[in-house]
Amino acid sequence: MRKSVLITGAARGLGLCFTRKYLKDGFLVFAGSRDLKAASLMELQKEYPDTLIPLMLEVTDTEAVAAAARTVAGYTAKLDIIINNAAVHNSSSFEILEKADIDDCLMVYDINSLGPLRVVKEFLPFLRSNPGAKVINISSESGSISTCGRDKEFDYCMSKAALNMASKLLSNYLKKDQVIVLAVHPGWMRTDMGGSKATLDPYETACRLVELFESRKDLEGPVFIDNQGKEYPW
Ligand SMILES: NC(=O)c1ccc[n+]([C@@H]2O[C@H](COP(=O)([O-])OP(=O)(O)OC[C@H]3O[C@@H](n4cnc5c(N)ncnc54)[C@H](OP(=O)(O)O)[C@@H]3O)[C@@H](O)[C@H]2O)c1
Repeated sequence: MRKSVLITGAARGLGLCFTRKYLKDGFLVFAGSRDLKAASLMELQKEYPDTLIPLMLEVTDTEAVAAAARTVAGYTAKLDIIINNAAVHNSSSFEILEKADIDDCLMVYDINSLGPLRVVKEFLPFLRSNPGAKVINISSESGSISTCGRDKEFDYCMSKAALNMASKLLSNYLKKDQVIVLAVHPGWMRTDMGGSKATLDPYETACRLVELFESRKDLEGPVFIDNQGKEYPW
């Protein structure tokens, strides 16, 4: 049977690279996007008309996430992988504390930390009906408290630290259903978020990560890992 994956933030950056890679590998891909008419997805759909399903998915909107789950149910009862990839890292994040707009941080937290939790909550039946299914939360080294040397980027770093805790809680909670949950630092990639000076190509990164996700079968292994599968310090 064809394997299936749901990806949030699938119309650009790493999310689009995951979409391309999984389509190439023959998966049924539910490509979550805030714009169903995104040119990147429309273009890919010409090549993969039967296996690319664009899905309206704004991760801050609980009802929209529930509606996306109802749409997916029209195609399949099971998902093999959910990749919570969507996130923001605003330029205001790089301001020193005196200039930071603390109220703005709520939006970042809503997208980066609560968004993945909303998605997992609404899509639980698709995971529970499929032992061995995986939830991949795309995190960051910036969510690591023990290695932190920064003195700003409060919103983004705090949101990824919270995502890491959500990943550990979900890993504990879903173990009995044999669902593997990971928080993954993908590395510094040349995307809109990473910028042009970043060291990694996002498609090559997506290919490496897909291989890594495939190879990971162990419910008891480390939850927070880097792009080589090595445990990352919390
Ligand atoms: N790039 C790096 O170097 C780097 C390093 C460490 C970790 N990461 C993590 O890797 C992941 C992918 O990052 P990227 O570099 O590909 O970022 P990106 O190029 O900025 O893309 C971010 C994606 O998230 C989507 N998104 C933002 N807010 C959303 C919302 N409210 N609802 C649904 N989708 C939303 C965007 O959709 P729209 O097109 O609609 O805005 C876009 O598809 C993120 O989790 C990021 O934190 C990246």
